[in-house]
Amino acid sequence: MYFLQAFSGIAVILSVVVLATNQNSTYTNPILPGWHSDPSCIFVAAEHNSFFCATSSFLTFPGMPIYNSKDLLNWRLASHVFSRPSQVPQIANTTVQNGGLWATTLRYHDGLFYAIVSYTPQSPFVVTGFIFTTTDPYDDSAWSDPLVFPLIDIDPNLFWDDDGTTYLQFSGIHQQTIDLKTAALGPATIIWTGFTEFIPEGPRMYKKDGYYYLMIAEGGTELGHHEAIARSKNISGPYEGYSGNPILTNTNTSEYFQTVGHAELFQDASGNWWGSALATRSGPAFENYPMGRETVLFPVTWNEGEWPVLQPVRGQMSGWSLPPQTRAISGSGPFVEDPDIIDFSPGSTIPPHFLYWRFPPKDAFAVSTDGHPNTLRLRPSKSNLTSSAPLTTTPELSLIMRVQTDTLFSFSIDVVEFKPKLQEEEVGVTAFLTQTQHLDLGIVLLPTSDLDPDGQAKLALHLRFRVTNVPDLTGNFNGTVPTVIKALPEKWLNAPIRLHVDAFNETHYALSAASSNEPWELKPMGVAPATILSGGDGRFTGTLVGVYATSNGGSGLTESYVGRWRYQGKGQDINYGKFVPYSPF
Ligand SMILES: *[C@@H]1O[C@H](CO)[C@@H](O)[C@H](O)[C@H]1NC(C)=O
Ligand SMILES: *[C@@H]1O[C@H](CO)[C@@H](O)[C@H](O)[C@H]1NC(C)=O
Ligand SMILES: *[C@@H]1O[C@H](CO)[C@@H](O)[C@H](O)[C@H]1NC(C)=O
Ligand SMILES: *[C@@H]1O[C@H](CO)[C@@H](O)[C@H](O)[C@H]1NC(C)=O
Ligand SMILES: *[C@@H]1O[C@H](CO)[C@@H](O)[C@H](O)[C@H]1NC(C)=O
Ligand SMILES: *[C@@H]1O[C@H](CO)[C@@H](O)[C@H](O)[C@H]1NC(C)=O
Ligand SMILES: *[C@@H]1O[C@H](CO)[C@@H](O)[C@H](O)[C@H]1NC(C)=O
Repeated sequence: MYFLQAFSGIAVILSVVVLATNQNSTYTNPILPGWHSDPSCIFVAAEHNSFFCATSSFLTFPGMPIYNSKDLLNWRLASHVFSRPSQVPQIANTTVQNGGLWATTLRYHDGLFYAIVSYTPQSPFVVTGFIFTTTDPYDDSAWSDPLVFPLIDIDPNLFWDDDGTTYLQFSGIHQQTIDLKTAALGPATIIWTGFTEFIPEGPRMYKKDGYYYLMIAEGGTELGHHEAIARSKNISGPYEGYSGNPILTNTNTSEYFQTVGHAELFQDASGNWWGSALATRSGPAFENYPMGRETVLFPVTWNEGEWPVLQPVRGQMSGWSLPPQTRAISGSGPFVEDPDIIDFSPGSTIPPHFLYWRFPPKDAFAVSTDGHPNTLRLRPSKSNLTSSAPLTTTPELSLIMRVQTDTLFSFSIDVVEFKPKLQEEEVGVTAFLTQTQHLDLGIVLLPTSDLDPDGQAKLALHLRFRVTNVPDLTGNFNGTVPTVIKALPEKWLNAPIRLHVDAFNETHYALSAASSNEPWELKPMGVAPATILSGGDGRFTGTLVGVYATSNGGSGLTESYVGRWRYQGKGQDINYGKFVPYSPF
């Protein structure tokens, strides 16, 4: 008895030593915060020694972002696969707000990066496949024009077998061979219908220890989302489902991170397995999630001949020791979690992480034009951000944005010059999910009660807070938020006017304005619930913040100049009010 206790005491000491020398790491999710849905993450040892993740872009342009990292925590925008409208011209004509490019799968084979994606206008649900390649993932222009082919369903995946055959898998779960030079396709067959057989999608194929492992997402990308796995010794099947399915899910839990699925597995340089997936910080209530589906990381244990063990997704994680943290990595894009301090200085260009909704009007944006240093010039679009819902037209919008990457944030820009002539000419800031769900604060020319000598109402600059949501149709908010219009204070006219969008708590956004002479004297213009920017037409994407210019259907063409673009994260909620790295408590 005593002997045994003494013996187990030594065992405890030994295991402490093992822990100390082989320390597991801790980190927090999400690793790509804000709208970064449908991740496909890989490790490329050869030449790059880096991790890469691709995420979805839907209607945003440039699209199909690729991020790179050496340590799995510091992620930098490497490039956009889709940076020339000619690569996917269909984006210009896509009305449905959730249509466009869904779920890139990123692969590296024989020195070449492959990005395969599906396009659908969503209505009708006709799917087209696109394959792009590059040897240089840090340069937008190095990505090829696409190989285009018809697809029966969404979420294409590429897999190269040892005999050189290339396979395409996609939702269903279908499989067919594909010739990567000609896009010639073999016959498609259904190789597995999944564990629950409900919306089997997002297939991944891995070959390990004599098995083909087919891992898929199921249940739809909302609360029922989960991951399931099957294996076969023959790539054509039959596939044997794992008795432990679902292999990864937060369904039926009270976890803050929900909708976990669309997973991918990869090995780091030490041979440890990891997985990426999408998740939504909503809790099971699933009402308030303006950032939509984000990218999370989880450790995986995959012993020889066995099924992989995927660690459940939480905000606070621990697992395999992470590679040493470093920001010395290739590329010139910003790190995902960094603030924006952008002054549009002469000689600079539009930052690579800025996004348009479909393609922007030609020449709508220019940096530091003659006589206007340190500004971004906007030419207005006739159309404002709103169209009728459901949308039937696809006007080009003078709208430029970035992803909201923090639960709490502060965004502001200075309107440096705006001298409109016609009623309803407007420049402003927006928190934008879709054209039917956005919160705007504009400086706009509106009639006053004073009459000019011709008996016409005099026009003057006003601040206008206006919320677009279509009750009962879009978003998770059924009410209406009244428009607020205030005359622009006269004493503000001699200095740039600062317009703010702040997520000041988890459930609400505040829009406000100030003179840059007295930036602390904020004039609150309106508060709106984040549920407007959750669900509805935008249930697959996430909130963006930015600047727009419009004549609101009129013929005004007045240019505006904005400067001092600032975005600052103020806290990341990882578990119902537990904030990192900044804690208000
Ligand atoms: C978009 O629609 C316009 C007008 O119907 C048509 O002329 C154009 O060819 C379409 N473009 C694409 C890429 O489908
Ligand atoms: C795999 O299955 C297919 C279809 O059933 C069959 O034609 C093929 O011969 C099998 N391959 C091997 C290596 O057993
Ligand atoms: C969640 O619970 C429901 C009802 O009990 C059950 O039918 C379903 O299979 C569960 N889903 C998962 C992924 O556990
Ligand atoms: C380290 O992390 C791995 C992967 O999550 C896990 O399997 C292992 O049990 C952890 N080791 C310790 C000592 O916690
Ligand atoms: C909004 O109203 C519709 C119709 O009345 C109802 O079906 C829906 O559940 C409501 N949504 C919310 C979030 O209250
Ligand atoms: C956020 O602020 C709004 C408006 O002041 C308030 O109604 C709401 O309860 C707050 N939410 C949280 C989570 O504190
Ligand atoms: C958008 O422009 C149209 C006219 O083109 C106008 O009727 C509408 O009020 C504007 N704003 C919003 C938020 O809908």
